[in-house]
Amino acid sequence: EKGGYDFYMLKEIAEQPQAVAATLLTRMPDLDFSGVQKVIIVACGTAYHAGMIAGYAIEQWARIGCDVELASEFRYRDPLIDEGTLVIAISQSGETMDTLMALRHAKAQGARVLAICNTNGSTIPRESDAVLYTHGGPEIAVASTKAFLTQLVACYLVGLRLAAARGLSAPGVQEALRAVPDQLRTLLESSGAIRELAYDLATARQVLFLGRHVGYPVALEGALKLKELAYMHAEGFAAGELKHGPIALIDEGTPVICVVPAPTDALHDKMVSNIQEVRARGARTIVIAEQGDEAVAPFADAVIPVPATPALLAPLLTTVPMQILACETAAARGHDVDQPRNLAKSVTVE
Ligand code: M6R
Repeated sequence: EKGGYDFYMLKEIAEQPQAVAATLLTRMPDLDFSGVQKVIIVACGTAYHAGMIAGYAIEQWARIGCDVELASEFRYRDPLIDEGTLVIAISQSGETMDTLMALRHAKAQGARVLAICNTNGSTIPRESDAVLYTHGGPEIAVASTKAFLTQLVACYLVGLRLAAARGLSAPGVQEALRAVPDQLRTLLESSGAIRELAYDLATARQVLFLGRHVGYPVALEGALKLKELAYMHAEGFAAGELKHGPIALIDEGTPVICVVPAPTDALHDKMVSNIQEVRARGARTIVIAEQGDEAVAPFADAVIPVPATPALLAPLLTTVPMQILACETAAARGHDVDQPRNLAKSVTVE
């Protein structure tokens, strides 16, 4: 059943190229995007991280304000919603109670709701005005991997559609998306080196993750994966926040996993100097950077190269080393990767 892999999670990580390719072919639902003036995204856990990344894309491509909310918080708020508000609920299972309640809360106030979901006929799509199904196939491991990548693809497609509805375009993005499945294959073929790093991580007292812009939710996602699978203290930070507190956590040998934007990106040099800062305080830096990025080498104890893609799409690639790191670190610590303690695949209670 596990197709020769030790864990469902490894099988599902390996399925990501085809899951992304299939989701790229998804038909956009029949929903009028032209009157949308504001977007609110609601989700939990990993799906919330996908929503955060969607927020950057929708703002940049469609020039529409986008709030991204934890469903468990949103459902108890008194949000500003009108007919021009599109609420997007993201859920792999389609059964997450908090996300469902957030959706009902939004609908009761007159919002239109679009679901992004991986499970046909589940409750969240049934109660939404429209649904965009991701084509990840069944996800068995508790830790979400291929569902996350396909949620991202669906979010990007919605972002492009919202942009088109306003007469805007995002040059080069469609082509770049089409290249991602092959880039994922390349990345997965060279994942052996990541496994080696996991053996060292397994004995760390804590692991920190840093990123900027879309690299920030990727850092949060990396930390969440390590918490849930390896039961280690792991935190993700926006790298610009370091000096406002988190840098005090760093001592000799603390592993810090850094997500670096492409060398052509305006934030690249900022991130490199953040890496220098943590290294100067004793951190052991594991750097996820674009292939051929020479600038990171002097400050990196290890570099994980990823193929080049436009900045907003980078999470489709930079997340994958995080998934493998968490999976292998948990395995090295002797944990049941597919069934972590205290967790359920779908959280149908509050
Ligand atoms: O089924 P959903 O996408 O609504 O689930 C949301 C979260 O419970 C889920 O992403 C959770 O955080 C995963 N275990 C993360 O790996």
